[in-house]
Amino acid sequence: MPSNSKPLQSSAVINEAVQTLRDGGLVAFPTETVYGLGADAKNPDAIKKIFTAKGRPSTHPLIVHLAAPDKFDAPQIDWTSLVSPWVRDLSEEALLLINAFWPGPLTLVFKKDKSVLNELTGGQDTVAIRAPAHPVAQELLRKFKGGVVAPSANRFGKVSPTSAADVRNEFEGMLDLMILDGGDCEVGIESTIIDLSSGDRAVLLRPGAITPSDIFDKTGIQVYQTGEAINKDLTPRVSGSMRAHYAPTTPLRLYAPGRVLDALSEFPDIKSRVAVAVWDSESSLGHDGHPSVHFEEVIVPSDSTGFASRLYRFLRDLDNQGWDLILFPEPPPGEEWDGVRDRLQRACFGSGPSSSSHASN
Ligand code: TXA
Ligand code: MG
Repeated sequence: MPSNSKPLQSSAVINEAVQTLRDGGLVAFPTETVYGLGADAKNPDAIKKIFTAKGRPSTHPLIVHLAAPDKFDAPQIDWTSLVSPWVRDLSEEALLLINAFWPGPLTLVFKKDKSVLNELTGGQDTVAIRAPAHPVAQELLRKFKGGVVAPSANRFGKVSPTSAADVRNEFEGMLDLMILDGGDCEVGIESTIIDLSSGDRAVLLRPGAITPSDIFDKTGIQVYQTGEAINKDLTPRVSGSMRAHYAPTTPLRLYAPGRVLDALSEFPDIKSRVAVAVWDSESSLGHDGHPSVHFEEVIVPSDSTGFASRLYRFLRDLDNQGWDLILFPEPPPGEEWDGVRDRLQRACFGSGPSSSSHASN
């Protein structure tokens, strides 16, 4: 459920969104991870609109979102009939993962069925699929009765949106877009992506809230890091794996514990106004100050789940506040931090006034 108490969208609004999708239009909708920019996965023209709206290269594949079967009280939901039309082969391993984590923030990559449009896979012979858990997403997908492709509803290279207002700000004046409001996204970073398409190994393509340990604990399946895959050439492109990503326009850097001033050394001629994120578990920064810099502390959650859920909110808000520099603490070691570490590192790399020129997704 969304973490705030906003009422969910009415049936009439969802019906209108369904009609918009059927007519080949775009609908932004909430998921538990981030907001998605949705189009009918069977309509090539609608899919092209997504790439145009985002400014995203057409070779970057999209995720197909499917409705969960609505028999939630059954001990085992039958996902097979739902997923089979999209994939060439649904392995035992895939079904274990699906039963353990769907609906939820886990995307699986399969060899695609021949009916899946090349427009959505960027020409690859694989397809990424997930069933989001957010009730508004589920209602939309159930009523639509088909697959909906949905990248994060941000312009290429920008921070993913975690509220309906974020989506509105992204596309204001550029695009006439229907936006379903489902409140703030609870997970806050994009889904974990696991590649099952090589047949023999499950490979982590993008870290997220569901970690390899969570997967091993619930299914006994060992997930390999991309670098550990047997044949790296088989690993499909993931645009999120480009270094620059999720980037604010304000320069962003990470600082090691207690080393805020070190992080400034890269910027010798600044910086009068610097926002410094500080773990809520720490009483204060404890730095000795700097003659020409005004620091302002922003308290951030020191647990990985709480931090992830608000990371993009902090980045967007701080980016709009006119700071000269934003500093975040380096996430601590540990797999549960991999998702946010990944997003923060990319955000640092792509940040700064020219971020849009070398960013992705
Ligand atoms: O949480 C999420 O996954 C969100 C919400 C809206 O569902 N969606 C999302 O979509 O993050 P997008 O397009 O921003 O990122 C999808 C990632 C991209 O990095 C893309 O390259 C990768 O999934 N991807 C899609 N299809 C793939 C495929 N066939 N093989 C490998 N990677 C794929
Ligand atoms: Mg994205």
